[in-house]
Amino acid sequence: MGKGIFITGTDTGVGKTVVAAGLAGALKARGINVGVMKPVATGAVWNRGRLVSDDVRFLLNAIGGNDDLDLVCPINIELPAAPYSAHLINKIHINTDRIRHAFLELSKKHDFVVVEGIGGLLVPIKKDYFVADMINELELPALLVARPDIGTINHSLLTVSEAKNRGIDIRGFIINGFDAAKAGRVEKANPEIIETISGVPLLGILPFDPNLNETGSDFKNIVGMVRKYINVEKIYEES
Ligand SMILES: Nc1ncnc2c1ncn2[C@@H]1O[C@H](COP(=O)(O)OP(=O)(O)O)[C@@H](O)[C@H]1O
Ligand SMILES: [Mg+2]
Repeated sequence: MGKGIFITGTDTGVGKTVVAAGLAGALKARGINVGVMKPVATGAVWNRGRLVSDDVRFLLNAIGGNDDLDLVCPINIELPAAPYSAHLINKIHINTDRIRHAFLELSKKHDFVVVEGIGGLLVPIKKDYFVADMINELELPALLVARPDIGTINHSLLTVSEAKNRGIDIRGFIINGFDAAKAGRVEKANPEIIETISGVPLLGILPFDPNLNETGSDFKNIVGMVRKYINVEKIYEES
């Protein structure tokens, strides 16, 4: 399989897309031939006769990429729900072989592929095939993105524990959306507590940026943030 990193999260909406896009852009700025992938996108919208998701656009924009959308995102689902839920509710067929195939194709074109997950590790893609299984099938190490606020210790430790049970190599975690002006002592203590208990290294704390939103985001800003606050070298060297 190809070289790359899988960006998972403790939940949906924690900043996987922002971290994945910023990391991909930062690697590109370092001169690496980097590709992006979102194996399964949910909540995709119809555009010129095909389903496309905001995440895929965001990731591609960050690197100025122009790979075939079927490779970057082989499975697009309209319903904003777990893929298995979409299968049950809308009777859509999900062919996970396409994920492996698309990843192999992207790996032929790029030296490193940043892959964004879907929700967290136990999101079912099929009844007996979770995001965690996909990470193992792609033989990728993972990075965990977590929220800064209350509840994140529990979510982060649960995720690390499940990753260990399933043989997934979590190389590090990132706290995203940390608001230094508002954070109290409890929030400030979270990163170190998670690192100490889990044994997974903290690779960076991305600040909350009020200017950040999915549409019209300034990619230079996101890439700059990742380069400043995340240990990109360590992620690349060890992957
Ligand atoms: N560091 C940040 N500061 C401010 N807003 C952020 C930050 N990171 C993410 N967001 C916003 O939070 C929302 C969820 O982030 P996203 O990366 O899409 O999460 P996920 O991919 O995990 O679902 C988006 O609207 C995004 O713009
Ligand atoms: Mg996302």
